Amino acid sequence: MTIFAVLLCIEICWMRKYLTHPVFKIISDIVSPKNQQAFVIGGFVRDLLLERACKDIDIVTLGSGIDLALEVSKRLDRSTKVSIFKNFGTAMLKSSDYEIEFVGARKESYRSNSRKPIVEDGSLEDDQLRRDFTINALAISLNPETYGELVDPFDGVGDLKKKLIRTPLDPDLTFSDDPLRMLRAIRFASKLNFTILPETFEAIKRNRERIRIISQERIAEELNKIILSDVPSIGFKLLDECGLLELIFKELHQLKGVEQIKGKGHKDNFYHTLEVLDRLSRNTDNLWLRWAAVLHDIAKPSTKRFTESGWTFHGHEVVGARMTVSIFRQFRLPQNEKMKYVQKLVSLHLRPIVLSREEITDSAIRRLLFDAGDDVEDLMLLCEADITSKNDEKVKRFLANFLLVRQKLKELEEKDAIRNFQPPITGEDIMHIFDLQPSRPIGDLKTAVKDAILDGLIKNDRMQAYEFVLAEGAKMGLKAVRSLE
Ligand code: CTP
Repeated sequence: MTIFAVLLCIEICWMRKYLTHPVFKIISDIVSPKNQQAFVIGGFVRDLLLERACKDIDIVTLGSGIDLALEVSKRLDRSTKVSIFKNFGTAMLKSSDYEIEFVGARKESYRSNSRKPIVEDGSLEDDQLRRDFTINALAISLNPETYGELVDPFDGVGDLKKKLIRTPLDPDLTFSDDPLRMLRAIRFASKLNFTILPETFEAIKRNRERIRIISQERIAEELNKIILSDVPSIGFKLLDECGLLELIFKELHQLKGVEQIKGKGHKDNFYHTLEVLDRLSRNTDNLWLRWAAVLHDIAKPSTKRFTESGWTFHGHEVVGARMTVSIFRQFRLPQNEKMKYVQKLVSLHLRPIVLSREEITDSAIRRLLFDAGDDVEDLMLLCEADITSKNDEKVKRFLANFLLVRQKLKELEEKDAIRNFQPPITGEDIMHIFDLQPSRPIGDLKTAVKDAILDGLIKNDRMQAYEFVLAEGAKMGLKAVRSLE
């Protein structure tokens, strides 16, 4: 045996031991008597080599992917349901928490105005060539005589070792065929901390305008994955550098730059936002909390003023909360409680900072608890990440004050249960006591009770609230006719 054969043998054995899911052996047994070739390909192989968990398995076969999926499902577990996508010639089945997709090897060509390719049957190499990056074009044989062998015609393994994103074809062709791949390149660079080959990156710059044919949903999907990277700023800086950021997320791009008047400049809010996002990401994987970091200063350009005392951004938290709605709508992100959560954090993001600058009164803490509710911890995480001053002393002081705010939040919540505030006296109680029909004084009395609790005048207690309502009602000329039930 030559040394090359020995090395090959080691490589095959090495990959074979990773093919632990029963589906691989089943596929091999099905294709073997038919002499039909099958391979596991794409992200699953990449992640296997990177030792990252992956639950999506892509199978490519020289033949019908749909027929293979149907046969596999019978042998895997009779209850497995196969979803068939006839138009695409693909089929998908779920096995435990894995999603396994089957496709016939194909050759693709594209027209200039669409991501929809013209598809023909092809060889494995044709199929690998149509893929976006060398690290995503790796395949492992499932055929009996070469089971476990890595098929790597473009040195994807070399690129994995070099941590490099590179296209198998001329990058201009790859990106112009499917411009989503420009975002995928940046997403992989951000997620895996890889470098995009300079020629590949130059092609992204040249083809950036092609991004306009991509739907907002697909753009948002990639943005979400960038935001969920360990260091999301890597992705956003690349987006900016190649000119895509301006095209897909102009509001974020507008945060860039420092204006100077009379020798006074403000900080660059783009880099500040990225710093906040990176700092926050060390403490949370919550996508929506990370979105709040992306958007917390989004209204700074539109609220910027120069005054005698320097630059101000008054009301940027309020305008920012409004912009959150339009940005979520633009990216077709959920228009539900997730968006409201982000809006709430954007609109409240200055409150703990203001609090920690001033004397920390119980009343202000209760109001923060009332407004933030169960999201108060997330708000504190965001605000702590927002301290990006270069002055160490200042940072230390702020963080120490935040510690105090956290302590007070805990104490007051234990004492007054403000977080999920339920009025101790309802509008119906008030109508009953004063024999009133629905009218304005009822709302006024309810607000007065809430304010008295938040200001610490009375406890969050039904009897204390009752006595308070009697006294306030009397001041308004109301006569109590019944007692509280
Ligand atoms: N692919 C491609 N071009 C695209 C999308 C996908 O060439 N625009 C190919 C790549 O070979 C990729 C495979 O299809 O590996 C599977 O795609 P997908 O599941 O979307 O991505 P993964 O690479 O598996 O990565 P992830 O699951 O992290 O998105």
